[in-house]
Amino acid sequence: MKPNSLFIPLVAAAILSPWQLSAEIVNISTPNTSLVLDAEKGAPLKILHYGDHLQGTDLENVKAAGAMNRDAYPVYGIYPQAEAALSVTHADGNMTTDVEVIGVSTSNVDGAEVTTIAMRDKVYPFDVNVNYKTYPGEDVIETWVDVKNNEKGTVTLNRFMSGYLPVRYGDVWLSQLYGTWANEGRLSQTPLNHGVRMIKNKDGVRNTHTAHAEIMLSLDGKPQENTGRTIGAALCYSGNYKLFIDTDDTDYHHFFAGINEENSAYHLKKGETFTTPELALTYSPDGLSGVSRNFHRWGRNHRLHNGDKERKILLNSWEGVYFDINEDVMAGMMEDIASMGGELFVMDDGWFGNKYPRDVDNSSLGDWVVDKNKLPHGINGLLATAKKNGVKFGIWIEPEMTNSVSELYEKHPEYVIKAANRKPTEGRGGTQLVLDMANPKVQDIVFTIVDTLMTKYPEIDYIKWDANAPIMDHGSQYLTADNQSHLYIDFHKGLAKTLDRIRAAHPDVTIQACASGGGRANWGILPWFDEFWVSDNNDALQRIYMQWGTSYFFPAIAMASHISASPNHQTFRRIPAKFRADVAMSGRLGLEMQPRDMNDEDKAVCRQAIADYKTIRPIVQFGDLYRLVSPYDGKGIASLMYVTPQKDDAVFYWWKTETFMNQQLPRVVMAGLDPAREYKVTELNRIDNEPLSFEGHTFTGKYLMSHGLEMPLTHKVDYHKNTDYSSRVLRLTAVK
Ligand code: DGJ
Repeated sequence: MKPNSLFIPLVAAAILSPWQLSAEIVNISTPNTSLVLDAEKGAPLKILHYGDHLQGTDLENVKAAGAMNRDAYPVYGIYPQAEAALSVTHADGNMTTDVEVIGVSTSNVDGAEVTTIAMRDKVYPFDVNVNYKTYPGEDVIETWVDVKNNEKGTVTLNRFMSGYLPVRYGDVWLSQLYGTWANEGRLSQTPLNHGVRMIKNKDGVRNTHTAHAEIMLSLDGKPQENTGRTIGAALCYSGNYKLFIDTDDTDYHHFFAGINEENSAYHLKKGETFTTPELALTYSPDGLSGVSRNFHRWGRNHRLHNGDKERKILLNSWEGVYFDINEDVMAGMMEDIASMGGELFVMDDGWFGNKYPRDVDNSSLGDWVVDKNKLPHGINGLLATAKKNGVKFGIWIEPEMTNSVSELYEKHPEYVIKAANRKPTEGRGGTQLVLDMANPKVQDIVFTIVDTLMTKYPEIDYIKWDANAPIMDHGSQYLTADNQSHLYIDFHKGLAKTLDRIRAAHPDVTIQACASGGGRANWGILPWFDEFWVSDNNDALQRIYMQWGTSYFFPAIAMASHISASPNHQTFRRIPAKFRADVAMSGRLGLEMQPRDMNDEDKAVCRQAIADYKTIRPIVQFGDLYRLVSPYDGKGIASLMYVTPQKDDAVFYWWKTETFMNQQLPRVVMAGLDPAREYKVTELNRIDNEPLSFEGHTFTGKYLMSHGLEMPLTHKVDYHKNTDYSSRVLRLTAVK
């Protein structure tokens, strides 16, 4: 390896360990992981290793051992047979790019170290900078790329991925999420076979109903929750994405992730730079749950808005009253949630519209004025009622949208997305239209919606930000004819700019990302949002499956999880309140129903759940997740637990997912505890007439992690109260 004089001062000082490495080896490390590059000047950037932490002789000799030694960011044109991360048409029409390293530098961005490998085309003044940002506390490395055009004319970007990772060919399994509306976050786990596996989104607005922009790769065969080398990758982007793994005839599975380039060719004028979204990578030897814990910590500490603040327990009005909002009903709901111990009331859709009142879903979006017929005392009246009841107040909006039946559209038809020479396609309610976030005037409107609400009513504590339509026509009335292919990307650039302004002005208001249910559960949107709505399906049994999948990449603090009515409004399943509560309290607990429709017994269960949740809230919202038994394994139960980082407190959840007589259910072995400590067991949300046999007893972490506790198949309740559901929530408090 040739020492490189340009690199030595930069790299050696900031990156290289004192093991006399050749200067071109760039070791981007966190305490437990290493990403090792060969950045020899004048050559393409090579990746040598990603995975466990390397040091000393192993780091020095990794290349000799037979490292991957592949282009770290493959570009298209020379030997065009392989997949590439970047493909461009240069100003003169040349379709080939051929880059070499010209320098390495480090900088500090928001307290984190960023290593930038600068590359330039050998012939064209065209720069490709590959960046790596390390999060030592969480073992996460983010990578992204800046592409700069210094050529004489416009360069067209045909593909512009955030990152590429070769993974050694073998018995590698892919874990990914799939689904649809009301069935989001489903888990799929399959081996990687030859061919291309693609995960993509083209919705334009909501990118997580169907697929998700995050994956895990288990390197040691069939995925295990708490063992096995596992790589996690999360593309942090709110728009259309494409992740694919090409298992070809080489010794590698080739993983690429980035913005979906389809119908999105991007023109870069002379002097302009295009920056891709970040791709976050993590590695853990502790299986899928290990990767989840890294992502959760990184998310809470660095991505999720206000990720260090406890979330309130709320009642949302949607499934309780839908559009039938009025002052009395809202006041009743506030009184009821307050009496149950809740902390916040959220008024959902249906409160606005002057000329066109929002009574159903076919009008008024964009006209964010109170419907005085429904709410004669306006928002101030509601805030006063909330104050009187000792709860905070939150409100629903859908700022990126309008209806063809609205005052906004009547005044500004030019603000909606539509193709030239065609009528706009209308969505929800037969009239919904998407505002063109690429247009700075629309960005101003969206900013002003939130800014006006928060300035006029600073006591608003929470906003549910909804988005109920995809981009239905490829067409921007703002973008020029030659830049129509920028629509999908510029929509999200415009959204990001607007959200930046909103957060600069209003950093404290809690904002939920909702998009027809779980359409916006992604790390690209969460820097501005405190949580997301997991799904419009609140059926507790189905939620176990959806929340299980979602927990692969997102922490409980971000997963809004509500107790809803029985029979459930989506599945019509009848589930007892205890089970509904036990599922909801494994995420950010809330309620979504009309409390006046509940009987006293169910109300008491909810009151108890709220009180108990308050005692475990820090463990659930900030603890480390250990998934124990997957509902997808068909063992008749699902189980997981949260443990504090100090391992002095934990909450264990156990839900029966099916009921047959004399079923042989597995005894669940716990994880994440300190083997040497003793933990006292207390049941929460108890409905049984007598305590569990282990109630109040202590066990060592070692025992709990080797044997677990025997859960009875049923609840010991009065005969007529028996149901086919059973669940347990146990608190484990370290006593020694
Ligand atoms: C879709 C959301 O997912 C629901 O929770 C609710 O807010 C409706 N929109 C309101 O229109």
